[in-house]
Amino acid sequence: MQSEKTILCIGAGYVGGPTMAVIADKCPDYKVIVADINPKRIEAWKTDDLPIYEPGLLDVVKRARGRNLFFTTDVFSAIEEAAIIFVSVNTPTKTFGSGAGRASDLQYWEKTARDIIEHSKDNKIVVEKSTLPVRTAEAMSRILRSNDKGLKFEVLSNPEFLAEGTAIADLDNPDRVLVGAMQTETGMAALQKVVEIYARWVPKEKIITTNVWSSELTKLVSNAMLAQRISSVNSISAFCEKTDANIREVSKAVSMDSRIGSKFLNASVGFGGSCFKKDILNLVYLCEHYNLPEVAQYWEQVVKMNEYQERRFAKRVVENMFNTVAGKKIAVFGFAFKADTGDTRESPAIYVTELLAEEKANIAIYDPKAIENAKEDLAHLTSATIEYCNDPYQAAEGAHAILILTEWKEFKEYDYKKIYSKMNKPAFIFDGRNILNTKELYELGFNVFSIGQTPLTHL
Ligand code: NAD
Ligand code: UGA
Repeated sequence: MQSEKTILCIGAGYVGGPTMAVIADKCPDYKVIVADINPKRIEAWKTDDLPIYEPGLLDVVKRARGRNLFFTTDVFSAIEEAAIIFVSVNTPTKTFGSGAGRASDLQYWEKTARDIIEHSKDNKIVVEKSTLPVRTAEAMSRILRSNDKGLKFEVLSNPEFLAEGTAIADLDNPDRVLVGAMQTETGMAALQKVVEIYARWVPKEKIITTNVWSSELTKLVSNAMLAQRISSVNSISAFCEKTDANIREVSKAVSMDSRIGSKFLNASVGFGGSCFKKDILNLVYLCEHYNLPEVAQYWEQVVKMNEYQERRFAKRVVENMFNTVAGKKIAVFGFAFKADTGDTRESPAIYVTELLAEEKANIAIYDPKAIENAKEDLAHLTSATIEYCNDPYQAAEGAHAILILTEWKEFKEYDYKKIYSKMNKPAFIFDGRNILNTKELYELGFNVFSIGQTPLTHL
């Protein structure tokens, strides 16, 4: 039987799990069910070995689990019970048919709509939590309206802005919560119900309500603009390497203009993560669909610049190691797409490793949280020599070079004197995240290459 105070989230991934754990924690009078078709994931959510690594997440889950937070594979019963259904399934880039490589693959999304129709006995609010193309809510509404039970479904958009590694802090204290609804009486009433949930802990002025299309588009634009800042600074890092300007100095001085601000201006080997590329390509696809080729090209360049930066990094490694890495041991420090997560989706480390494997390097990878994912990501490199290490010192032993590909804090704290003593000489460090003290490393004997900076070499 449906209960007004039961919330369901379909999809127990990086978004569904943490988001619902926080809602359950903040709203003990609601029952929150998280349902997924993946039994392994659901089982892991029931243990202390959660399926995703996210600082602070386990504490939140433990406070609510079994009290008002439940994980299940029984999606259908949960649909019947919940009055509000968040849909947080994956929406990857399409790999087939029309729009392949750009448009969103909405098959998982549509499947949930059909499940909702089939297993509902009462009217419900359906909330898009996944990132979706503009006007998806319209398609969703149409599918839901096609039910022959006389049921009414109100579709809202409530995109998620959390970043991995800081998900709990982002959910606890968001910059804003956005809820979009159809501008009808029933749309507004549904919107109010979702706003009420967030208003338990988010200040009212941070809860923005818009029409549903603005909400869907805002999510794509937010990610596009964040990624654009990184591509902008990375493009200038290439320029710095030609001119002896220093990207850290340029970036800092530029960011002190309060109109520009300091965030997302760290030059790097490139941005990764499951969403930036996917969401920009989706925006590009939509611009093309609406016959706006200039707008599409403008945003596509953000992705192209990122690919250029990844390629440029790998090429710089090979070129500076006397144009060959064949048979040389290269230690890769960091495989996750950013620090404080085990997630490796679209990680620049994948591309860089593939290229080095093509050049026949022997690769040793260390990452504090992402080794299992790295093994899966690189499983296709069957003829490459890849060692997966539990210890960075072991990875660096006998290596000709170390590549820093994730900004894990611990990488700054290693004993590089000890590491240097066990490496092959001349020893190189390529810091793809600009986190190390280049001068100190140089003085230890390393040849140091950072992004957008003049190399410090003894050669
Ligand atoms: P994910 O792949 O980690 O999780 C999605 C889950 O949905 C999977 O566990 C999958 O088994 C499940 N699923 C798929 N079809 C299902 C169905 N029919 N019934 C039940 N479960 C089903 O994805 P994610 O990273 O959590 O992303 C989800 C959405 O949120 C995407 O649209 C993404 O763009 C968006 N988003 C992600 C982040 C992030 O940091 N990862 C942040 C903001 C928004
Ligand atoms: C990003 C957004 O920040 C979130 O707001 C959004 O909800 C999410 O995408 C999503 O829709 O999935 P996330 O990808 O988890 O979050 O992590 P970010 O902190 O944005 O980092 C993305 C990539 O950019 C990482 O590879 C990171 O190392 C890189 N980055 C970030 C830089 O190279 N330089 C910077 O200055 C900042």
